[in-house]
Amino acid sequence: MQEHQAATVGGRFEGVDLAALAQREGTPLHAYSANAIRGRIGELEAALAGLDATICYAVKANPNHAILQLMAAAGLGADVVSAGEMWRSLRAGIPAARIVFSGVGKSAHEIAEALAAGIARFNVESADELQLLQLLAAELDVVAHAAVRINPDVDAPTHAKIATGKSENKFGVDIDEARRWFAAREQLTHVRLDGLHVHIGSQILALEPFRLALQRVAAFWRELRDAGHAIASIDVGGGLGVRYREGERAVAAADYAAVVRAALAGFDGRLLLEPGRWLVAEAGVLLTRVLRVKEGAGRRFLVLDAAMNDLLRPSLYDAWHEIVPLVEGGRRMTRYDIVGPVCETGDTFARDRPLPECEAGDLVLIRTTGAYGASMASTYNSRPLAAEVLLDRGRYAVVRRRQTLEEMIAGEQPASHWETP
Ligand code: LLP
Repeated sequence: MQEHQAATVGGRFEGVDLAALAQREGTPLHAYSANAIRGRIGELEAALAGLDATICYAVKANPNHAILQLMAAAGLGADVVSAGEMWRSLRAGIPAARIVFSGVGKSAHEIAEALAAGIARFNVESADELQLLQLLAAELDVVAHAAVRINPDVDAPTHAKIATGKSENKFGVDIDEARRWFAAREQLTHVRLDGLHVHIGSQILALEPFRLALQRVAAFWRELRDAGHAIASIDVGGGLGVRYREGERAVAAADYAAVVRAALAGFDGRLLLEPGRWLVAEAGVLLTRVLRVKEGAGRRFLVLDAAMNDLLRPSLYDAWHEIVPLVEGGRRMTRYDIVGPVCETGDTFARDRPLPECEAGDLVLIRTTGAYGASMASTYNSRPLAAEVLLDRGRYAVVRRRQTLEEMIAGEQPASHWETP
């Protein structure tokens, strides 16, 4: 397998000098390698060769306009979970015909917008949503294409907060309920229920849970087929894990595709895939600077200028990210608690992490931040959103400028217009 983890040899990242970049654009700074993303797309496409498959990039992983444009240019579709993500995708040039809409809480307004845009498919997660879709499609006099999201009751070995395929999770419906939907589908005058969807969770490094979930979906597809229900598409979701730490290895596209091919052998409709993290995570780094080293009682704190508002994953999921100071060799090793300036103890990127000794002003890279980094950022503690840059063959483009203070409070106003609802 090709190694697409963005190389950061000698303080360079995709041919760009990181010290010079930090000097010019400031820190904290999210940087993404266009090449690394293109590499991943190519790898997955090669693995799917010969299949009628569409990759619908899960926009939530990184919704930056330039990243979506890159996906559009490569011919990818999008998996969206809000009207906002749909709007971004269309605006970046991803055609409605390649957009699928997932999520347990689609509002009437969002469904109507997606129907008006003519998206490819709704991944429906409850009977109530199915009825609403029917109602709104009838109002607009269109036929919505829908898939039922199956909850296959598969336990994927990942963080509990991002596992979605167990029966106790809020996602999808069980096969018994899905069976009832198909049995009653003649009543749906404005919904063509002809797809199956499954997504069991995120950052899954083992293939077995995918195999198990897809086998259950395939068995259900065969049952439906035998009962005369044509199934036009099966959406296998996302969830492919990547390398965050030594010893881990991103799921190999060829291995994953082999599981999909085997489980769905004989299925002659369209396959949809919704990878997010796998396409972009390893292509991103968060460039940050040491503000100071603080000697605590029995601990040394490395205080960075990036914080949990820039990268939430360590605080929220105890996620492990590789942290690399960009310093000359030969420094003594020590151990740090690596923290940000936000006023919470949870604002910690790593505990007791061995690193070369650092000093104020040193640059530090936090790796594997291309997915669920900037996309989960906030302005907590009134810290403006960090800038984002796309790197390509020795050059870079600012794809999100650093938020100004004025932009941060845009929309806020004094309570001067009192009204009665
Ligand atoms: N499809 C559906 C229906 C999803 O809910 C998700 C992710 C994906 C596709 C894409 O999954 P991926 O290929 O990226 O694993 N914030 C968390 C991850 C949350 C994932 C939510 N759903 C994190 O930082 O680990």
